[in-house]
Amino acid sequence: MNDAVLQAIRTRRVVRAFTQDPVGRDQLEAVLDCARHAPHAGNRRLHRYAAVTSPPLLRALRMVSPGMLQRPMAAIVVCVDWPQVHAYGISPGNPGPYIDVGTACATLLLAAHGAGLGAGPVTSFSRTAVATILGLPQGVAPELIVCLGHPAAEQPPAMRRRGGPAWQDVVQWERG
Ligand SMILES: Cc1cc2nc3c(=O)[nH]c(=O)nc-3n(C[C@H](O)[C@H](O)[C@H](O)COP(=O)(O)O)c2cc1C
Repeated sequence: MNDAVLQAIRTRRVVRAFTQDPVGRDQLEAVLDCARHAPHAGNRRLHRYAAVTSPPLLRALRMVSPGMLQRPMAAIVVCVDWPQVHAYGISPGNPGPYIDVGTACATLLLAAHGAGLGAGPVTSFSRTAVATILGLPQGVAPELIVCLGHPAAEQPPAMRRRGGPAWQDVVQWERG
């Protein structure tokens, strides 16, 4: 068993309060580089990533994102490139592009953890406003924002339910 990987998965937590220390360019690039190692259906890689470090842009993103409780020092916006999705002939009801947003998110969160950063995903935001703020190309839709920064010593209480189910409670072995 690879203890380091298991330990990283177990110790990663969503960070909702950051210090004002900047995110190093090398740290941000290391996290972005890991996005391409996320598993994607058919290895199609129909996603685009917008990296944001400019304080005015980060403030603008926050203004249109009710779910962004933190004040990030950097952000990575995971986007679906819908013209590419259609060009691949993926049918409109196919959940693949959204599932791939999830795998990208999980990979980015763990990569940030590995790079010594804190990270928090946000899906509660205006898609139209974020696309406009970032000047995304037509058809490239922002689906999830990963906020990045250095974790502050004090964190707001976790949304985690206390005494949630143990893994044994949510796993069915073989046929039910
Ligand atoms: C798809 C998705 C969307 C999320 N959206 C938000 C959000 O808008 N704002 C927020 O503060 N946290 C958001 N979260 C973080 C969850 O609330 C968090 O993962 C959960 O409370 C468990 O905390 P933990 O990851 O630290 O164990 C989101 C997580 C996922 C997977």
